[in-house]
Amino acid sequence: MLLAHISDLHVLAEGKLAYGVVDTNGLVAAAIADINQLSPQPDLVVATGDLVHWGEVAEYEQLKMLLGRLEMPVYLLPGNHDQRQNLRRVFADQSYLPNEGADGGEYLQYVIDDYPMRLIMLDTVVPGEGGGELDESRLAWLAAQLAAAPRRPTLVFMHHPPFTTQITSMDAIGLKGRDRFAEIISRYPCVERVGCGHLHRPILKRWAGTIAYTVPSLVHQVDLDLRPEAEGQFRMEPPAYHLHLWHDDTGLISHTQYVGSYAGPYPFAVAS
Ligand SMILES: [Fe+2]
Ligand SMILES: [Fe+2]
Repeated sequence: MLLAHISDLHVLAEGKLAYGVVDTNGLVAAAIADINQLSPQPDLVVATGDLVHWGEVAEYEQLKMLLGRLEMPVYLLPGNHDQRQNLRRVFADQSYLPNEGADGGEYLQYVIDDYPMRLIMLDTVVPGEGGGELDESRLAWLAAQLAAAPRRPTLVFMHHPPFTTQITSMDAIGLKGRDRFAEIISRYPCVERVGCGHLHRPILKRWAGTIAYTVPSLVHQVDLDLRPEAEGQFRMEPPAYHLHLWHDDTGLISHTQYVGSYAGPYPFAVAS
């Protein structure tokens, strides 16, 4: 099983730039072309939020057009830039997305059980806020899903990471409820990774007995500045995504793939 984890697409209405600078739609289109040309191709793609920039219907329509180019299924989660209702409205034909009355309630939380690894998708969004939360109802849902298959290898995906990064501006919009979340996850060694976005940087941490990480953004990256007084800025570092490769005999191996055009590949075996 090969899974591509993408995050923070920040898609805009046609012709718009993020922060007046970033052609997010063009960068997302390039990333989708990159994923399609992989060999072997991923079996599926997971996109962990900040799917669009302002949460508007016109942006979700652009997103749908762009994601429609993927040659494999894609599973969506919202981030703090998303708007659940508009996301639901434009992607109403996607049967994996729970409707409002379903188990999990108002949240876009769901389980995908069709692959060798089980995927548990958590919704951390608090409408109108940059930070996220896993409150008791969302955590109770998670605990029930884990208890239903406690030995199946599992990936948990969500937008906000459950750890601080020492990037002050991003920690200020972190995740509430993470101690209780850690308590639940630590009871299940079957959780191989907790895969997140939001940080627009590659970061990983041993956390609650597993590995929690953030994947880079497909568009702009958060500037790495660990000074406590640093103000948040972004930088056009190479966009990237993760590829998780699962075999029963090797376990889970996670690769990082950079999007863009770079010189090479060159053979190692050349006469000097
Ligand atoms: Fe983002
Ligand atoms: Fe975010």
